[in-house]
Amino acid sequence: MTLDFARNGVFIAGRWRGSGSGELIAIEDPSTGQTVGELSCASAADVDEAVAAARAAADGEWGATPAFERGRILANISRAVLDETDRLAELEAMDVGKPLAQARNDVIALARYLEFYGGAADKLHGQTIPFQAGYTVYTLREPHGVTGHIIPWNYPMQIIGRSVIAALATGNAAVLKPAEQASLTSLAFARIAADAGLPAGALNVVPGLGAVAGATLAAHPGIDHISFTGSTAVGRHIQEAAAKNTVPVTLELGGKSPQLVFDDADLDKALPFLVNAGIQNAGQTCSAGSRILVQRGVYDEVVWRMAKRYAELRAGPAMANLEVGPLISAKQKAMVEGYLALGRKELAVAGEGRIVGDAPAGGHYIAPTLFADVRGEHALAQEEIFGPVQVVIPFDDDDQGVAIANGTPYGLVAGVWTADGGRQMRLAKRLRAGQVFINNYGAAGGVELPFGGVGRSGHGREKGFEALYAFTTLKTVAAHHG
Ligand code: NAI
Ligand code: MG
Repeated sequence: MTLDFARNGVFIAGRWRGSGSGELIAIEDPSTGQTVGELSCASAADVDEAVAAARAAADGEWGATPAFERGRILANISRAVLDETDRLAELEAMDVGKPLAQARNDVIALARYLEFYGGAADKLHGQTIPFQAGYTVYTLREPHGVTGHIIPWNYPMQIIGRSVIAALATGNAAVLKPAEQASLTSLAFARIAADAGLPAGALNVVPGLGAVAGATLAAHPGIDHISFTGSTAVGRHIQEAAAKNTVPVTLELGGKSPQLVFDDADLDKALPFLVNAGIQNAGQTCSAGSRILVQRGVYDEVVWRMAKRYAELRAGPAMANLEVGPLISAKQKAMVEGYLALGRKELAVAGEGRIVGDAPAGGHYIAPTLFADVRGEHALAQEEIFGPVQVVIPFDDDDQGVAIANGTPYGLVAGVWTADGGRQMRLAKRLRAGQVFINNYGAAGGVELPFGGVGRSGHGREKGFEALYAFTTLKTVAAHHG
């Protein structure tokens, strides 16, 4: 596949061009470690221009487009995305190192977001408020204006869906800064959207480095809202930058999400979820279910059954479509290897997958690894590893399980496996997380379901109808007519 388009990957006001500085960065295929192309790297001046183009669109044609028409355009883009499923999936699999089937799921999720937010665009409305005699009071839901979206490399298409598309549905004009490690589907999507009728300037894309394009966008005085998905450390910078311009932020940061397995759980049902939540996308998932908390009565059985599954897991090239692909980069691999070395020294390896024999030597592969008998305070049970690594932690009763589950600085999602209806409801309340899954994990991605964290996992909600509130501001109109 030719990647020449990425050299002219700056998309502003409906036009493609190289970056103003001419700077290019290498595009790497994580399955091989080879450079497969070059990506234009937006400069601060390019970001200025993109923000100005978005402002012109918000004040112009896009801003004047009626809600139902915005929805229709998004629905048209949804169909165009589905028509390109194979090409987008291959592009993503190559660029992210994601097994092909998982990349296809991301394309389908993006199409669902377009459908969902397209359908919702003309169903978001204000209210009338009973007030004193002589007044009519009502509220208007209005777009912020220009929204900035800084996204990571792990799920580019899904995050475009839940962030950029919700912003467009509500009439904002967007500037998207994809991650330098995986920008190709953002560029491909912008082209598909433009061809399907999205007016010039409604979506602008500035690929490039976090410290340049990202930091310029986050601090830009022309941005009215910023949404960021990525590391907690960078999230803090984003919030500081937004504070200087007093604009709202949505932060979707990391996690160390627990799954609690009780003695009465349906283990046949739970087992595939327990493992898959840790290895999907090679564990590079903000909502990865990386901590498995197991009640004593089923502890040995769960560890044994998980270990058995781990022994079957294979890591290999994205196009081979195995359970696990490579990690995104040598840097991420080195970080995960650091955790594995610590784990091997201080913990018991309970299960291990393998890297297939024909995996290219330059690819960033990690054999999936399961540690058991881990204490909740251990670094591997506290810190986000972002690799195919899970820890199993025993617990005795509800109180201890909840204490361990809530005992990290994060709070993104949590899973509970139990047949006891009362316990399901009690734990749903007690667990510190933005989403709680009962007898499932992840609800198959659920675009309808509000998503986001507490604590170090961030704040604000994307996905579902809730995102539409985040991407609008409320105006109250009080008319005195006597
Ligand atoms: P990162 O937070 O540096 O990158 C995310 C995005 O932020 C990218 O588009 C990047 O270009 C941009 N960025 C970086 N520095 C910036 C700055 N100063 N100002 C504005 N934008 C900036 O994450 P990275 O380094 O790729 O991964 C490191 C760790 O972060 C991972 O190991 C993982 O623990 C966590 N992470 C969490 C994600 C999630 O889904 N919540 C996604 C990616 C990473
Ligand atoms: Mg790449």
